[in-house]
Amino acid sequence: MREQILELERKALEELKDLTNKADTDAFKIKYLSKQGLITNLSRGMRDVPSEERPVVGELINKVKREIESRLALLETKYEEEALNEKLRSEKVDITEPSKGTAQGEIHPLHKIFTKLMDACVEMGFTVVTGPEVELDYYNFEALNVPKDHPARDMQDTFFLGGDLLMRTQTSSVQIRAMENMKPPLKIVSPGRTYRVDSDATHSPVFHQFEGLVIDENISMVDLKSMLTQLLKMLFGDDTKIRFRPSYFPFTEPSVEVDATCPMCKGAGCTRCKGTGLIELLGAGMVNPKVLENCGIDSNKYSGFAFGPGVDRLAMVAYKVPSIKNMFENDMKFLSQQNGEIR
Ligand code: DAH
Repeated sequence: MREQILELERKALEELKDLTNKADTDAFKIKYLSKQGLITNLSRGMRDVPSEERPVVGELINKVKREIESRLALLETKYEEEALNEKLRSEKVDITEPSKGTAQGEIHPLHKIFTKLMDACVEMGFTVVTGPEVELDYYNFEALNVPKDHPARDMQDTFFLGGDLLMRTQTSSVQIRAMENMKPPLKIVSPGRTYRVDSDATHSPVFHQFEGLVIDENISMVDLKSMLTQLLKMLFGDDTKIRFRPSYFPFTEPSVEVDATCPMCKGAGCTRCKGTGLIELLGAGMVNPKVLENCGIDSNKYSGFAFGPGVDRLAMVAYKVPSIKNMFENDMKFLSQQNGEIR
């Protein structure tokens, strides 16, 4: 029996020497140490060993088993290290390799103008509020002094949604919502998307407006003009002058169209401003007392002004964009070409 054990040990150690990979090592393990393995078989042979020899023989089998196990453990540690090193080698990043280059994003011109307008207005003490794009006829027209049969409805070709619902044609609707919800004095601006059945180089079915409203005691056209001068200077530069031209909106009385020094030629006259040196930018006016009364505000005590530029138009002027369609195409070339920026 002793001979048999030592022979098996010799054979096992011989085979162990040749093991170089995990698969062979696993097979070796099964061959010697599994339930049907050769070492386990030896233990079974103990039955035939005379009882006085059993402790010695048993100890010998255990010694051989421990020897094989400890060598196997060493081998396994070695394989793990090798696998880890191989992984580190294959996943190594060459930090000296030139990069493929990452595409740089650009802020959309509309977003830039919105941000400038909003920053300027917040600085002047305005609160930013928003309103729904799917709007009730009442807020978009009726409360703004445009009843159902009013010819001014033709000024804004509307997407009607059935019932009293429509896609808002102007952010002026938010004026009404603000006056219903806030007590004067109030000073709000409202940026947002607006919709009209209209499509050419300067009109798009979806476009953007920026509504402003100030209600307080003793507000006059002077406040409107000085506030707008300040705002447009922030947008187009300190040398910007503005001009009021009489106009008509049902919700303001008097109403004006506001022109500003053409930022392209600084007033000298160019193709963009058709030689006038001025460019038409927005509608504004003193809030019609009827609108105040519609919102439960005493028009004898309070007055106010409102203004509502088309933001796409401001962006087109500021960034020399030829067509409003460019704003909605998300063409990377267009978006990365805003070097015509005024400021
Ligand atoms: N809502 C008008 C439009 O879309 C623009 C406008 C004009 C807004 C005068 C105003 C305003 O707040 O006072 O044509």
